Amino acid sequence: MAEKDARLDKYVAESAAITRKEAKTALSKGRVQVNGEVCKNGDRKISASDTITLDGKSLTAEEFLYLMLHKPAGVVSATEDGRDKTVLDLVREQSADSLEEAGATGYFLGKKEVFPVGRLDKDTEGLLLLTDDGELAHKLLSPKKHVDKVYFARLDGVVPEDAPARFAEGIRVGQDYTAMPAKLEVLSVQDAVSEVHITLREGKFHQVKRMCHEIGCEVTYLKRLSMGNLRLDEALAPGECRKLTTEEIAMLKA
Ligand code: URA
Repeated sequence: MAEKDARLDKYVAESAAITRKEAKTALSKGRVQVNGEVCKNGDRKISASDTITLDGKSLTAEEFLYLMLHKPAGVVSATEDGRDKTVLDLVREQSADSLEEAGATGYFLGKKEVFPVGRLDKDTEGLLLLTDDGELAHKLLSPKKHVDKVYFARLDGVVPEDAPARFAEGIRVGQDYTAMPAKLEVLSVQDAVSEVHITLREGKFHQVKRMCHEIGCEVTYLKRLSMGNLRLDEALAPGECRKLTTEEIAMLKA
């Protein structure tokens, strides 16, 4: 965490997500300014009222990074995998090479270690949040916090009439568990194919697929549309990733 009651080199390294060595080099080259004046002294103590810039760009004490990925099918929700491409591979590929190059909408991963907030199956698409903020991740995933996750699903089969009520009561999933009350909304049924919206508070393994199996339907396509107030930005093509806006971060934390 970059705190503003620190040594200048430490603050620059942490807020720009670069190594201490890179920060010292930037300082020695006169790329860092404190309150508008070049400062080459990394030992200097800074406080909350100081304005620090690197290459003219203000370094805010941004504690965490929050990214929205439009997860495509075919990649796994992991940070590393010996076989398959991971969501972290996609995030790394799109990171700018420096904070300066990230601009207003891009991001610079640097040394930050973001992780996916919950998992989507390899064949599931849609909204995946990645962050290094463990507290927020916990809040979004805990069923007790009641954060709704909305999915669009295409199903092989006609949704039975009593299915929305069974979902609302809490459907029994195999011998394993009874799901928390969930919402099932049928959007269309045509040629024995149903399109639905499903809203869950939990995120158990294959949960949507297993709940749909219980009503005699099989999921053939699944996409997460939202998590709490955060909606997938449809301007992001599958595979694309961007930093959350400050408004989006505030909405998630509210
Ligand atoms: N439910 C599933 O079955 N799969 C997902 O990827 C997400 C929710």
